[in-house]
Amino acid sequence: MTVDSPEKVLTPVLSAFWDQPNSWTLETYRRHEGYEGLRKALAMRPDDLIALVKDSGLRGRGGAGFPTGMKWQFIPQGDDKPHYLVVNADESEPGTCKDIPLMFANPHALIEGIVIACYAIRSHHAFIYVRGEVVPVLRRLHHAVAEAYRAGYLGKNIQESGFDLELTVHAGAGAYICGEETALLDSLEGRRGQPRLRPPFPAVAGLYACPTVVNNVESIASVPSILTQGKEWFRSMGSEKSPGFTLYSLSGHVAGPGQYEAPLGVTLRQLFGISGGMRPGHRLKFWTPGGSSTPLLTDEHLDIPLDYEGVSAAGSMLGTKALQCFDETTCVVRAVTRWTEFYAHESCGKCTPCREGTYWLVQMLRDIEAGKGKYEDLNKLNDIADNINGKSFCALGDGAASPIFSSLTYFREEYEEHITGRGCPFDPARSTAWADNNHFTTAQGVLAK
Ligand SMILES: Cc1cc2nc3c(=O)[nH]c(=O)nc-3n(C[C@H](O)[C@H](O)[C@H](O)COP(=O)(O)O)c2cc1C
Ligand code: SF4
Repeated sequence: MTVDSPEKVLTPVLSAFWDQPNSWTLETYRRHEGYEGLRKALAMRPDDLIALVKDSGLRGRGGAGFPTGMKWQFIPQGDDKPHYLVVNADESEPGTCKDIPLMFANPHALIEGIVIACYAIRSHHAFIYVRGEVVPVLRRLHHAVAEAYRAGYLGKNIQESGFDLELTVHAGAGAYICGEETALLDSLEGRRGQPRLRPPFPAVAGLYACPTVVNNVESIASVPSILTQGKEWFRSMGSEKSPGFTLYSLSGHVAGPGQYEAPLGVTLRQLFGISGGMRPGHRLKFWTPGGSSTPLLTDEHLDIPLDYEGVSAAGSMLGTKALQCFDETTCVVRAVTRWTEFYAHESCGKCTPCREGTYWLVQMLRDIEAGKGKYEDLNKLNDIADNINGKSFCALGDGAASPIFSSLTYFREEYEEHITGRGCPFDPARSTAWADNNHFTTAQGVLAK
């Protein structure tokens, strides 16, 4: 098997100088064309800027992949209302860990993107809603925002352009649901974070009932490079429908966990090729392409293009590109139970299918894992997940159903083994025969295909 070199696979843009000393300072950012994109943007008409971002094909990196330029275009103009940009920096999806390192190592890319986006949508006040637990990141952001004010990139008459912008960094209290954009807006307004009924959509009635764009950190931080390098450069990476570069977060039982910035459409096999694959002596059993809310995939899917279309054709979703990889020592029932406990804990309780359904899923999964399950429970698990999926008020419910459906599809035998064997075959106190008899391909074997 030939393994591509890192130079061939990776396209570092946002992460290009994370390893340099003081990468987070304005001085370092300026040495790497920092705020050049803003200079170009301020010389353009706001509508032309929106058209540029639309033509670049940039899609939101928060999970759903909605076209960023189109979202900006939805903001009504000449309505005499304040407009807001709210950056979603709540990053809480299990396995997802890209926005936090991005803001920690290169906060000015986000701030520059914010000024450009606000100029485009005619907003004079932006917010960054950050997960409150990440205090070091909050400190870095506050420091970078202060630097940007001092240098005239924020505040009144930015770079003598006549454009004014205030930027507020807000610390959330740490709830997964506050990453859902309308719950985030309620939380930012000082209410309990619960999703809002739509319509009206945030573009019409968002923060303080005014037109609001909510974008992910990575989406906004990707904008300055489109200004400096051009839309053709951006489109030269990835595919026609999923262009550009993005951050893939490799974690779990892998030899080289971390952030890998590559064009959309790279494969897990290519990322394994440059990162060392699974930890030595172990083999890939299952993985998530975009966090725990995206259906599980297996070692059969190492060659699917990791873009929106490729992952969806394989029956999953690109989501946040959080590639959590599990080896043959992992009990899939245990992993799914753990994720489901998370969803039950984070369910905001507003709607019945999710509030009640996630609770009952946890009870049944715990029983199955402990060897107290019955065959009928597997169909019941599927039924409960089916009553949550598509029938809940927000996408947290769909996310909770994903690991149930996909694990039953690929690993039903392993669930059955918990029932017939009266407990977990991965329990070290029990025989290891079950694991030995299964036919997972070794990471080396798979890579050598
Ligand atoms: C339960 C839940 C949690 C979410 N958490 C986040 C998050 O932490 N960060 C994020 O950007 N989007 C999150 N989203 C998606 C947002 O609702 C929204 O789609 C996103 O911020 C839009 O930004 P984008 O268009 O730039 O991708 C979450 C959605 C749900 C349903
Ligand atoms: S799906 Fe869950 S998190 Fe979303 S509104 Fe309903 S109870 Fe709340």
